[in-house]
Amino acid sequence: MPSPCVLAFLTVLISLSDSSMELYATTDVCPLGQFPCGNLLVCLPQSRQCNGVKDCENGADEENCVDNTGWPHLFDAFAKPNILESNECLLDVVPEVCDCEARRVNCNGRNLQYIPVVSSNVTAFELNGNQITSLPPDQLIQYKNLEKLHLQNNSIRTISTRAFSGLYKLKKLFLSQNMITTLKAAVFRDLHNLQWLILEDNHISSIRQKSFTGLKTLFFLSLLNNSLNNIPKKSFCQEMPRLNWLEMEGNMISELQSSSFQECSALTVLALRRNRIHIIQEGTFSTMQKLIDLDLSMNRIQELPPSLFKNLKNMKQLNISYNPLSHIHKDQFDSLVSLQSLGMEGIEISNISIRMFQSLVNLSHIYFKKFEYCGYSLNVRSCKPNTDGISSFENLLANIILRVFVWVVAFAICFGNVFVICLRSCTASDNHHHTMSIKSLCCADCLMGVYLFFIGAFDIKYCGEYNRNAQLWMESLQCQLIGSLAMLSTEVSIMLLTYMTLEKYICIVFPFHNYRAGRKQTLSTLIGIWILGFMIAIIPFWDKQTFGNYYGRNGVCFPLHSDIMEKPGARSYSTGIFLGLNLFAFIIIVFSYISMFYSVRRTGSKTARHTVFDEEVTIAKRFFFIVFTDALCWIPIFLLKILSLLKVEITGTVILWVVIFILPINSALNPILYTITTTSFQERLKLCLQVKWQQLGPKETPHTISMTYIHSSTF
Ligand SMILES: *[C@@H]1O[C@H](CO)[C@@H](O)[C@H](O)[C@H]1NC(C)=O
Ligand SMILES: *[C@@H]1O[C@H](CO)[C@@H](O)[C@H](O)[C@H]1NC(C)=O
Ligand SMILES: *[C@@H]1O[C@H](CO)[C@@H](O)[C@H](O)[C@H]1NC(C)=O
Ligand SMILES: *[C@@H]1O[C@H](CO)[C@@H](O)[C@H](O)[C@H]1NC(C)=O
Ligand SMILES: *[C@@H]1O[C@H](CO)[C@@H](O)[C@H](O)[C@H]1NC(C)=O
Ligand SMILES: *[C@@H]1O[C@H](CO)[C@@H](O)[C@H](O)[C@H]1NC(C)=O
Repeated sequence: MPSPCVLAFLTVLISLSDSSMELYATTDVCPLGQFPCGNLLVCLPQSRQCNGVKDCENGADEENCVDNTGWPHLFDAFAKPNILESNECLLDVVPEVCDCEARRVNCNGRNLQYIPVVSSNVTAFELNGNQITSLPPDQLIQYKNLEKLHLQNNSIRTISTRAFSGLYKLKKLFLSQNMITTLKAAVFRDLHNLQWLILEDNHISSIRQKSFTGLKTLFFLSLLNNSLNNIPKKSFCQEMPRLNWLEMEGNMISELQSSSFQECSALTVLALRRNRIHIIQEGTFSTMQKLIDLDLSMNRIQELPPSLFKNLKNMKQLNISYNPLSHIHKDQFDSLVSLQSLGMEGIEISNISIRMFQSLVNLSHIYFKKFEYCGYSLNVRSCKPNTDGISSFENLLANIILRVFVWVVAFAICFGNVFVICLRSCTASDNHHHTMSIKSLCCADCLMGVYLFFIGAFDIKYCGEYNRNAQLWMESLQCQLIGSLAMLSTEVSIMLLTYMTLEKYICIVFPFHNYRAGRKQTLSTLIGIWILGFMIAIIPFWDKQTFGNYYGRNGVCFPLHSDIMEKPGARSYSTGIFLGLNLFAFIIIVFSYISMFYSVRRTGSKTARHTVFDEEVTIAKRFFFIVFTDALCWIPIFLLKILSLLKVEITGTVILWVVIFILPINSALNPILYTITTTSFQERLKLCLQVKWQQLGPKETPHTISMTYIHSSTF
């Protein structure tokens, strides 16, 4: 729907606040891809939900946007503190260095090397941050009423098999931040009432068959940040039938076998983030009917078995982000009917389809690597990311200023260059081959304007619904073609500038050499440059295998930065072009102008004339501006390229500004620098406009030869 879109675009220009996109729904149910504004009969598209801007009158589009599906919220419900006890100490024996409240003893951070003796009916014993190194046998046996034992942040290495004997009432045991390497068989056998066992930040490398014997009531087990290699082949949960919550983030588990969790039917949360899992057997999770939260992110999974999630009908949150998955089966998520949040960040889904997310009826939050994918999950209200910095959900160009300026810049470039071509054709010049080079340069620069016009036009074409077309657009031939147009323009332009600079250099630095390129020579050089430019622009089409989708890697179809998805061939190619050819050309230009300037000065000082100084200043200014605008255009691009090769994250916004403002700087300024501001051109123009022109007869000294050359012929 182009015409309402143009209107919308104009409205944006005028007011920046467009409410023209609101669609009034005729029924209670909004069409696919749109969601209701509370109970108003207004529907808003997916892209306007949860984007930080109130689009509904009642603000309903920004309500309930927080993804609170995950475990932190479950955790709060379980971990309510007990605050009803009084503060007065009820124990007879308390070590002097410790504090006591009711039946709780606090010996945190007292430099203790052994567990001190306290009254036997202590219920909570805190010994965090001491220097206890071992837990000898039967030392805690008299604490029959102990419910919580804190031994975090000590230096415990060894735990005797009978260290916890007699602690029948213990409910929570904290052993995190120690140096425990092994858990002896049956070490917890008397802990019949233990619910929480926290073993975070230790060095446990394996779990023995009988380590968890006796933990019949264990509810929460955390083994976060250990060095577990593997989970025992026999079911982990045989000895912990009530295990509800298993935290194994930050280990070195490489394989999940189908038998490992066979009896874990009570599990609701399973966290396996930051492991090295690369193999998951089919059926690993098949018995976990109660599972609500599964985190498999940051592993090395390349493929998920097709029916891995088959029985997980209650699952609300699934995170498979940052895995090197090569593809996803189209029915992978079919049984996850209760799923509310799905994390797939950092995953390239090459054959994504609407079918994949079709059965996820309750899904409300989805997280992708690229915002284009959101177009395939239109049933989900909150889809992230909203933008890649270049394009947004709605528009090819995400930034309103750039949406306008792409037209301004395109117009300025085209107008300037076409103007110069016309005037050059109108004014007769005695230096034909130089005029030829200038016209060539203008043609090349003009192509940059054409490129920007196309970008602006496609921005309007896709206005309001870009994200549905994004993937198609980037893969389309149009995108490839206009991308190669921009490439052709920049490369031919910089090569022509180098050629013209070198020509000038030879004339000025070697004034008596009498070298002046003939018409034929100039023509063949120009043709050569254009052919080379065409080849550079077209080579990436040659081999899909090596270059991938070289131009269509972002919405503006210009391959400025490298990312991990770029093919090595494409990366070397664009590095070769931008940091090889272009940098080389830039350096030649800078050095030629510097040495030209010194050469002019030298010959000038020999001829001791008064006017020389003024002319020198003029030339210096002109040279400075030529080099300066080249630098302005190219140095940011070189930097960008180097940074992206150093794997520095470059936001799409930066790339967009560079492509629309910085890259075209030369194209826009070249006609001004090389033609319009030159004296000889202005004089010729006057002649052309039938204004009387008086020739000033300069004296033919070596110096004036070069001065005249600079003023009348070269420019
Ligand atoms: C246990 O606590 C009671 C108070 O509830 C107290 O009278 C008794 O002396 C304590 N027993 C020991 C061995 O400290
Ligand atoms: C561990 O205990 C020491 C005192 O022994 C303390 O200085 C340090 O802050 C504690 N570290 C943590 C992470 O709690
Ligand atoms: C676990 O290790 C990671 C990475 O080393 C660290 O960032 C995190 O704070 C650790 N977590 C805990 C609870 O110690
Ligand atoms: C999924 O996992 C990644 C990496 O571990 C994390 O950054 C992201 O916040 C998680 N997503 C959700 C929705 O929890
Ligand atoms: C993606 O491709 C793989 C294999 O090429 C296939 O098994 C899978 O079903 C495809 N997924 C979709 C959604 O087409
Ligand atoms: C989806 O969510 C609604 C409301 O929260 C709930 O009533 C319904 O049972 C859920 N559907 C499924 C398949 O879980």
